[in-house]
Amino acid sequence: MANHQKIIIAIDGFAATGKSSIAKRLSNSLNYIHIDSGSMYRAATLFALRLDSKNNLNPKKIIQSLSEIKIEFKTIEDGQLIFLNNENVSSEIRKPHVTNQVSKLAKIPELRSYLVKLQKEFGRDKGIIMDGRDIGTIVFPEAECKFFLVGNVEVRAKRRYFEQRNKDNKETYEKVLKSLINRDKLDTDRISSPLVKAEDAVKIDVSDLTIDDVYNRMWSHIKKKLNKI
Ligand code: CDP
Repeated sequence: MANHQKIIIAIDGFAATGKSSIAKRLSNSLNYIHIDSGSMYRAATLFALRLDSKNNLNPKKIIQSLSEIKIEFKTIEDGQLIFLNNENVSSEIRKPHVTNQVSKLAKIPELRSYLVKLQKEFGRDKGIIMDGRDIGTIVFPEAECKFFLVGNVEVRAKRRYFEQRNKDNKETYEKVLKSLINRDKLDTDRISSPLVKAEDAVKIDVSDLTIDDVYNRMWSHIKKKLNKI
């Protein structure tokens, strides 16, 4: 794209709506940084699970240990790696033992404040696309472009099931569906930064759309915004 002023793009929405894949593509097109904020909550969950030998979450212990959580991203040719205290945890954070606990941990206000502070720092120079649940509402309420992705839960579960089948996480479709329903509920009902559409976000229902369709809709909206500034 021509030399436009850099902006912040916030993509929020329900699990498995394609937020991260689209954010990654947009970041390539715009030459922007992409941060998947969900991967930060996942890395923090892995850290928290390791604090207890029985893999239980202990909120008090987690709050006391927040300053020991160091999260870094490294861009490689076909994507991005995430490091927790210098360890590459990119695959482990996608496994069911983390996925099934992350929304419980994401309810803890102290942890959210800790991660939101890091997320805001990533966006200091703009030119960033961040995806998550509270990016347009809490992390970057000033973002120039905001999207909110929704979709039928069964369509989303199928998508996630097929995605995982190609990796080594072998959960049944029913398990994936149950886990998504559970996470949606925890994310929407929590008191601290619940999953909610920002007033000025563009809502897209992805149920009957391909990733390309969603990308194209977002891209035309972003182009319009960029041409106005
Ligand atoms: O990729 P997927 O849609 O499965 O989820 P994710 O983006 O990796 O996020 C995992 C979980 O982290 C969510 O279900 C939320 O509980 C939490 N999360 C959050 O609370 N706030 C964010 N900004 C991002 C994720």
